[in-house]
Amino acid sequence: MDGLHAASSRGGTLIETVMATVRQRIAARQLTPGAKLPSVRAFAKTMQVSTSTVVEAYERLAAEGVIRSRPGSGFFVCGPLAPLSLAEVGPRLDREIDPLWISRQSLEAGGDILKPGCGWLPADWMPQQALRRALRGLAHAKDMVLADYGTPLGLAPLRQLLARRMGEHGIEASPEQIVLTESGTQAIDLLCRLLIEPGDTVLVDDPCYFNFHALLRAHRAKIVGVPYTPTGPDLDLFAQALAEHRPRLYITNSALHNPTGATLSPVTAHRLLKLADQSDLTIVEDDIFADFETEPAPRLAAFDGLSRVVHIGSFSKTLSASVRCGFIAAPSDWIERLTDLKISTTFGGGRLSAELVFSLLKDGSYRKHVETLRQRLSAAMVDTMQQLEPIGVRPWIEPRAGMFLWCSLPDGLDAADVARRALADGVVLAPGNAFSLSRTASRFLRFNVAQSKDTRMLEVIAKAMRG
Ligand SMILES: Cc1ncc(COP(=O)(O)O)c(C=O)c1O
Repeated sequence: MDGLHAASSRGGTLIETVMATVRQRIAARQLTPGAKLPSVRAFAKTMQVSTSTVVEAYERLAAEGVIRSRPGSGFFVCGPLAPLSLAEVGPRLDREIDPLWISRQSLEAGGDILKPGCGWLPADWMPQQALRRALRGLAHAKDMVLADYGTPLGLAPLRQLLARRMGEHGIEASPEQIVLTESGTQAIDLLCRLLIEPGDTVLVDDPCYFNFHALLRAHRAKIVGVPYTPTGPDLDLFAQALAEHRPRLYITNSALHNPTGATLSPVTAHRLLKLADQSDLTIVEDDIFADFETEPAPRLAAFDGLSRVVHIGSFSKTLSASVRCGFIAAPSDWIERLTDLKISTTFGGGRLSAELVFSLLKDGSYRKHVETLRQRLSAAMVDTMQQLEPIGVRPWIEPRAGMFLWCSLPDGLDAADVARRALADGVVLAPGNAFSLSRTASRFLRFNVAQSKDTRMLEVIAKAMRG
């Protein structure tokens, strides 16, 4: 066997070997930017391969942008790419703690960074095998599914299935009342476009999911926070905020609230809806953690019958954050305008994602997966509480389920300082004030129990707490 064929049989195909040879010549500056490559026939002879192998290798290098073809003249070396800027890689230690701090630090973190502060499950907690199987199934889908825009409301059988699932939580929604979106975030964004004008007031919980602040700011809303208790918003202060600010909208999570893990009690839900009725307030109930629940909590949308409550969700937390698929269940007479807004801002929507989610829901793999998730999360919750206890980090409440544990630090410690020091040691934490409009949560950290299993985390936090 000659050298080239031996090399290709050790690893890679003949085409890859030809590509590697061209790359080596460029790196060694035997071929400089603008230089013409040997003709296909000549190079095939030099490399002792067929001309079709060289044609394919040249085509692939051209697709990568390493070389380019000039019809009639041959192939030429392209200019070098700008090098990756190392300054943009790694944690941003100098950034102030703001609503986007945790998202940026978590999304940009490299593989060796621990992320007990991030808001999603580790990739290996997701149903990898079922996802791969569903992706293989999609490869056989009809041409239209692979190439065409989705319908305005989104995949009808998925909307039907979602309507049935909501029914299990007491929410009566017909499939025609459900609009598929690309994510929970997009669902909220569309609703803000529909329901508020710049300058309108929106109520949020204090603390709440930090991206509510960021998104509402992007819509130029005036944001007012209402303190959150273990059973829902503080109703006296809620009533006061209604009278004082005449808000247009309230955004909340009824079950497994982010960041506290608390759940709305039936009494609070009932009183809240009465207050909303009296003040003509619309409520967006973001139910993205619904499937982590073992015992379903009361839903505002169920009591209200989707009249002034809009219900949203997505599959980012339970299935995949990479497959973007969410939904809105809204009063029937909003659907036309929501659909127009969806078309004007995204046109078709994530058809492939919807197909993928539908196939996983339909074949039962999703249901099995979330059952396992609930058990794993419940064990991880106990583990994390036990780990944190000896260093004086205490849970505000013991959540009924889910991934979040809202914990207070010992007196005198500031969570932002602790988070900055931990970040320098490769651990992303979630300091309380990123979630608090009034910035009164400086003693709190939110832990994601699924991301808190590495013992290095505890060492780094204990060191960061010592200062
Ligand atoms: C309460 C809440 N709503 C919405 C989202 C956004 O989810 P999605 O990935 O579907 O945009 C998150 C993500 O962390 C969240 O915690």
